[in-house]
Amino acid sequence: MEPVVIRTERLVLTMPTLADAESSTRLLQEPVMGTMLATLPWPYTLADAQTYLGEVAPAGWESGEGLSWAIRERDDGPQLGNIAWRPSRGDVGFWMGAPSRGRGYMSEALRAVVSWVFTTSPEVDRIGWEAVAGNVASARVARAAGFRYTGVRPVEVEFRDGTRPMGWHGVRLRADDGSPHPGWPL
Ligand SMILES: CC(C)(COP(=O)(O)OP(=O)(O)OC[C@H]1O[C@@H](n2cnc3c(N)ncnc32)[C@H](O)[C@@H]1OP(=O)(O)O)[C@@H](O)C(=O)NCCC(=O)NCCS
Repeated sequence: MEPVVIRTERLVLTMPTLADAESSTRLLQEPVMGTMLATLPWPYTLADAQTYLGEVAPAGWESGEGLSWAIRERDDGPQLGNIAWRPSRGDVGFWMGAPSRGRGYMSEALRAVVSWVFTTSPEVDRIGWEAVAGNVASARVARAAGFRYTGVRPVEVEFRDGTRPMGWHGVRLRADDGSPHPGWPL
């Protein structure tokens, strides 16, 4: 499918491109990214970014199996973070570079992506989320976007070393109105 642009009050979400390679490499080399993002190659290199941006992200849009957006403050601005909806897995994944955290950007981006998915995909009734248990920042983003906490168990997406650490799991249902639910371990 054709890449889609999503606009929010403060952000514009567009397909990441090779022009984002150097800045996203710098942001993704932060150690917490390796700890929290299961399939991110580690240590992360410019070549990894070029493969993702030049091959994986465009192929995901082409097949419709993995839709990823760079998060920017304006159309020609640098990539601050990334968010992906993976219809094949039925879940979302995201990261925000350290300099742009704590402004509510990821919560805003996630709400917009959830709304876009439910609006454009009538067959989708639920969107999954998971994080390594203890990833409070990610869980707060999911809670703020109206996800329900569904429990702690090993993550479904295997880490790059073949392990499945304990994870927190959540789901956003189409029928939900997007307001926060109780029950999160936060
Ligand atoms: C998780 C992450 C995407 C949050 O991005 P962000 O843009 O800072 O998120 P927001 O500003 O929308 O903040 C959302 C909530 O998290 C809280 N938060 C942000 N950073 C936090 C931290 N380090 N510890 C605890 N809470 C934190 C905010 O206070 C806010 O809480 P509230 O909604 O209850 O007020 C970012 O920290 C990140 O990329 N971390 C590393 C990669 C990662 O963990 N990705 C998710 C994998 S599942």
